[in-house]
Amino acid sequence: MATVGNSIEQATKWLREGYPVAIPTETVYGLAANACREDALIRIFEAKRRPLFDPLIVHLPTVNSILPYAQDIPRLAFALWERYSPGPLTLVLPKSALLPDLLSSGLPTAAFRIPAHPVALQVLNAIDFPLAAPSANLFGRVSPTTAVHVLDHLGDHIPYVLDGGPCSVGLESTIIDLSGPEPILRREGGIPSQSIEDELKITLQRPAHAFRIHDGFVPSAGTLDNHYAPKVPLICYHNNEELTNIVSRLPAIHPPDPTARTADLPPMREPTLGMLRFQSDIPDHFRDLCERNKMGTIRIIEILSPSGDLKEAARNLFAAMRSLEEGCDLILAEQAPEHGLGLAINDRLRRASFKGTTR
Ligand code: TXA
Ligand code: MG
Repeated sequence: MATVGNSIEQATKWLREGYPVAIPTETVYGLAANACREDALIRIFEAKRRPLFDPLIVHLPTVNSILPYAQDIPRLAFALWERYSPGPLTLVLPKSALLPDLLSSGLPTAAFRIPAHPVALQVLNAIDFPLAAPSANLFGRVSPTTAVHVLDHLGDHIPYVLDGGPCSVGLESTIIDLSGPEPILRREGGIPSQSIEDELKITLQRPAHAFRIHDGFVPSAGTLDNHYAPKVPLICYHNNEELTNIVSRLPAIHPPDPTARTADLPPMREPTLGMLRFQSDIPDHFRDLCERNKMGTIRIIEILSPSGDLKEAARNLFAAMRSLEEGCDLILAEQAPEHGLGLAINDRLRRASFKGTTR
């Protein structure tokens, strides 16, 4: 089992030896390893059970430290770094030969981020190589925002988790691809794309396949059907009316017939529903409706932000999804308002939602 602690020395010792270590960032915990060593990168892919076609983000402490690893950096990159770094912004740029192809899944570009978490910066300043770090969860599952979340998924596969407390942003970085003629939004994230456009007076392209890299050859994180998926099915809805419709349409769960049971099977328990709410509690009539439709018991209600604050909701999202997946058979998740950080929250919820396949 991984050791959890707050020793920068321990963490950097493992990193120098080529082993992956979980580190806190302001967005989510990352599973970090030397971005220039193929053996270290392989260990990241193995621990996460991540397919090799999903490229990793390179983390460095300053703009200057990025320069040797990128090429043909456009002016806009410097303007974006000036305004948003360190912080939850990742830029895709043509990469230099210092970065192995394994890191970028064979692409001629790489994604770069300067994290704002003081512990991540301490680690990056203590070493002389860049860190590749995907989110420190099993591939396709809910991202970690605490050290305990990391242990849950990866504890048996990595030597050390550097604990920096709960993540303050709670959603992954916003990814902008600057490797082509026009800037392309690759992922909504911790900085709302709309505010980037407003503040820098730029327009980000959002082509239909914006989240597919290079004409669909490499799927981008979170575009695979089951990305961010909890262990149990999750169904998204927009408002209480839609929630009521969904529950009315779902098949009733009938209590098991006691005579039909085989003696050596454990007794069936009552199915449980988990409710992820954006701001308010479930509507009053809802419990009766579930009861009438034999939907099971409502077990956990997670309210992301009672005051309707999108930042607070973003910070709580992944922890709420994790607590619901532990205690419930089905999660019904209310979407956030479709603006600002709400776009990134809803992006994660939609990708986490049940697509009719089994996992
Ligand atoms: O906030 C974050 O970005 C976190 C923390 C740990 O920094 N990291 C993170 O990494 O979310 P990950 O592996 O979960 O997402 C990395 C994604 C890839 O799946 C892909 O979408 C994009 O970054 N990416 C990486 N390299 C790319 C490239 N060369 N071109 C386009 N997109 C790329
Ligand atoms: Mg991820």
